[in-house]
Amino acid sequence: MDAAEFRSLWDGLTPIGLSQQGGYLRYSWSEADQACRNWFRAQADRRDMEIETDKNGNLYAWWGPRHERNAVLTGSHFDSVPHGGAYDGPLGIASAFLAIDVLREAGAKPRRPIGVVAFTEEEGGRFGVPCVGSRLMTGALDPDRARGLTDADGITLAEAMDATAADPTILGADPERLDGIGAFVELHIEQGRALDGADAPVGVASAIWPHGRWRFTFTGEANHAGTTLLADRCDPMLTAAFMVLAARKEARIVGGLATVGRVESDPGAANVIPGTVRAWLDARAPDQADLDQILEGVQSKVNERAERDRTQVSVTAESETPLVDFDGGLRDRLAALLGSAPVLPTGAGHDAAILAAHVPTAMLFVRNRTGVSHAPGERADDEDCAAGVDALAAVLRELAC
Ligand code: GLV
Ligand code: MN
Ligand code: MN
Repeated sequence: MDAAEFRSLWDGLTPIGLSQQGGYLRYSWSEADQACRNWFRAQADRRDMEIETDKNGNLYAWWGPRHERNAVLTGSHFDSVPHGGAYDGPLGIASAFLAIDVLREAGAKPRRPIGVVAFTEEEGGRFGVPCVGSRLMTGALDPDRARGLTDADGITLAEAMDATAADPTILGADPERLDGIGAFVELHIEQGRALDGADAPVGVASAIWPHGRWRFTFTGEANHAGTTLLADRCDPMLTAAFMVLAARKEARIVGGLATVGRVESDPGAANVIPGTVRAWLDARAPDQADLDQILEGVQSKVNERAERDRTQVSVTAESETPLVDFDGGLRDRLAALLGSAPVLPTGAGHDAAILAAHVPTAMLFVRNRTGVSHAPGERADDEDCAAGVDALAAVLRELAC
């Protein structure tokens, strides 16, 4: 595939959800999401592929009879983090359609059905929990909990689905569909610069670090900022600030990562000591013991600090994903097929991590020269994206044709 062919398809998708403040706002079940879904349907129609939406809102286009088992599924997600980049997610879907073009032009015929999938709410950018579509499908997320998840405006997932005429009452595990999937391959922009260092346009994933999101709620006493003596305050913002620093330190000790990217305070006025602060800790580490150590270290330090601040702390796990070691046989086969492509681990979460517990799963990464992701500066060269399409086509041919 040449770079111009990639660009011509890509240009049809890039205006959708582009924010005037920079980056993309492609929240699940939003207007932008509907526009992405329409783009997907148009691509499937153009290729004469059967379109289907499953009970969890995940969208599929099939080459070959979808009712047959042992399908090879490829794709990713359309949704973005707030003001995210263009490539995280959509590149995997666009590349899947283009890889099918490459195979068809070469006269390949699938002996196993090939499905292109767009999973819903992968980032958790709207409803807080990542990989909602794949977790529901595999039974890792309780449908009642999913229906009740709320966005920043208090709209539940069920209400958001209703508003687009999708049916939230049928959400839930889909074992029959899962049984029909023989392999899943997700192509994704790299979220780091390892491929740039290795001078390679495409790599293969080895593993995904264990990771999770924890909501800390700090409770104190709201009071006047101008008249309450420092000694009289129960200020939960102090405890929250301490948590941010403690998380950074605990992560550094074990060689992991900790981020607090979302903080809310009530009542949220400059001249009021907050009564409540909520802060979300995203933590990741090379192995589970290290991740546990980060969390335990943060919690025990924060509890001590809360006593000094005369505040209370509670912690709720919003999502937890264990270490994913991708199927070794598949990983090595694909790396060899792609001419000894670099094999690398990642700290980023993906639907592939959820599927990997159930079906042989692999990931391909496309070089990102700046390493920026989850931000407007995310970028991959068209030539590298075209190389990614060729790599995915080779993988699909190997697995399905
Ligand atoms: C998703 O991209 C994540 O790693 O949180
Ligand atoms: Mn992402
Ligand atoms: Mn992604």
